[in-house]
Amino acid sequence: QQSLRIGLFGFGVVGEGLYKVLQQTPSLKAELVKVCIKHPEKKRNAPAELFCTDKSILLNDNNINVIVEVTDDADAAFDIVSTALQQGKAVVSANKKMLAEHLPELLQLQLETGNSLLYESAACASIPVIRNLEEYYDNDLLHAIKAIVNGSTNFILTKMFEENLSFAEALLLAQQSGFAESNPKLDVEGYDAVNKWSLLLNHAYGIIEHPNNILFTGIQNIQTTDAQVAQEKKFEIKLVAQAKKLKDGNVAAFVLPQFTKVDEPLSFVKNEYNGVVIESGFADKQFFYGKGAGSFPTASAVLSDIAALRYQYKYEYKKLYHHQPHTLSHDFYLKV
Ligand code: HSE
Repeated sequence: QQSLRIGLFGFGVVGEGLYKVLQQTPSLKAELVKVCIKHPEKKRNAPAELFCTDKSILLNDNNINVIVEVTDDADAAFDIVSTALQQGKAVVSANKKMLAEHLPELLQLQLETGNSLLYESAACASIPVIRNLEEYYDNDLLHAIKAIVNGSTNFILTKMFEENLSFAEALLLAQQSGFAESNPKLDVEGYDAVNKWSLLLNHAYGIIEHPNNILFTGIQNIQTTDAQVAQEKKFEIKLVAQAKKLKDGNVAAFVLPQFTKVDEPLSFVKNEYNGVVIESGFADKQFFYGKGAGSFPTASAVLSDIAALRYQYKYEYKKLYHHQPHTLSHDFYLKV
């Protein structure tokens, strides 16, 4: 095991969480060398000498071997992550928007440079769903996945329909708890969920599709009357990301609000929790559950990526099966 020397970009909810988590895990031998931030005027709960505003200080420091990127600026993040890979560093990112929008280029860059890019925290935060999809299943046997992948919208639905908060109150609470994106429209209108879904479709089925090509909508049109109908009929309303293998071998996939039966696993997922139900050959039905947003749950997944780099600074998903990648069906709504 070699020592990991980390350059961190971003010190918001996730960055600060990671700082604390690293302090509590000395056995990992991961040293936080420098943190690059945008707003030096903000008060931080860490020594001032740790911070700088010049990204090249981190990217050009040969002493830093791992770059962790947890900013919320997708364009700046793409630049940081690609430069870091080109500079011979391993990269851990939590930036689902950036990753979803640039996945093909980033996978290519990983291949060309031989440097690892890991992003377990970018989908379902604390649930280790990416590694699970990569390493557990034969993608030919992955029949269907149904998931709640956005914590804020699930939190809002729970607070509105079980605790009678208004939409505005519930959203404010999600923001104060550090669950929501800095632009909450990304959560509410489904953009964050579809970004995560496009990443997971790659790790589940080898499908590489820009999120713009996947049908989605958020919870912006859900009314109290919808919840009343749901309750009368013993359903919950959830924002569900779904993928289903069709008979022709293509995969139908979308993110839409759905009625879920009160006794099905996703209905048990409340507040900022996420859940993933996988149906596959042999294993049959499995349900994964955990916090999908928040400082420590997200930092925990970032930490697991950092830990995965402890040997030679590399970690490659163990593609256990090498079937042909599947294709996204564009006429799924006729077939599902
Ligand atoms: N805004 C995101 C969510 C944060 O609510 O799920 C975690 O990715």
